Amino acid sequence: MAQANGKIILLGEHAVVHGFDAIAVGIERGARAHAQVAAPARLQLGHLSAVAGDGSELSTAYEALLTELALGPHHVQVELELPPGAGLGASAALGVVIARAVLELHPRAGSSARVLAAAGAWERVFHGNPSGIDVAAAERGGCLLFSRSQGVRVIPVARELSLVVALAGAPASTRQMVEQVQQQLDTRGEIVQKTLEAIGALVVNARLCIESGDLPGLGQLMNLNQMLLAGLFLSTEGIERACAVARAAGALGAKLTGAGGGGAVVALSAGDPESLLSAFHAAGLPCFATRVLPSSGGLAP
Ligand code: PMV
Repeated sequence: MAQANGKIILLGEHAVVHGFDAIAVGIERGARAHAQVAAPARLQLGHLSAVAGDGSELSTAYEALLTELALGPHHVQVELELPPGAGLGASAALGVVIARAVLELHPRAGSSARVLAAAGAWERVFHGNPSGIDVAAAERGGCLLFSRSQGVRVIPVARELSLVVALAGAPASTRQMVEQVQQQLDTRGEIVQKTLEAIGALVVNARLCIESGDLPGLGQLMNLNQMLLAGLFLSTEGIERACAVARAAGALGAKLTGAGGGGAVVALSAGDPESLLSAFHAAGLPCFATRVLPSSGGLAP
């Protein structure tokens, strides 16, 4: 069984599409897959099935991935452990895990560069203009600084990050949200560019907070990032409500994560995540806790 991570963007989504750094952490929930060599190429994702040439978006993405790998047709069965469209990197986790499952059958063909290239081809079908941060986090895990020009740099984590993710609204299309920011750049470019630069500055400071263990500082930067994302019309009433619930329950910071327009909120807990989990439950929001361990930048359940 091949495996890949989901991800949480701690700060910097959308700005990363336009060349700025963003910070992501891998989470253990992700996707698992099993492959066999067989024709015609076929993908089984839960109850969804896609066969090469059926014209669906799923089969187009799967064919793009297989074409990039150039290893012939395969049957792949995938299980997704993340809600799709919630900003938790579900589609990137699928692309990475499918590429890994196929490459596992061809041990001499495998390398992380090939996984990234194949998953990138898959992502482009769904997202149009992905920055690559989702695929990098799904492939690598840990706590990462990512930019289009510099790729992945590992951030050493001084103090454990205790995070709680809540589903604050219906899934949104990453492609549409990214296009909406591009349209704003086209129509009111100067102010949007300033907002993206400000988000870039928050990311620079957040990296220092993670490296020095300044969790209250990190939380404040997350709150500021949320305000700037709201200024780009990426927030929703549900997201604002979920952030307010988290802050009232003692979160150091809370913001949307991923594309926005719905989907997930991430809150930084001051320690034990229990009070945040109960507050989200009381507000009727599905949620889970995850941790990023110190210095290793490693994964925890
Ligand atoms: O919503 P997700 O998990 O697809 O995250 C998207 C992150 C964006 O910065 C909005 C897009 C991108 O490609 O980086």
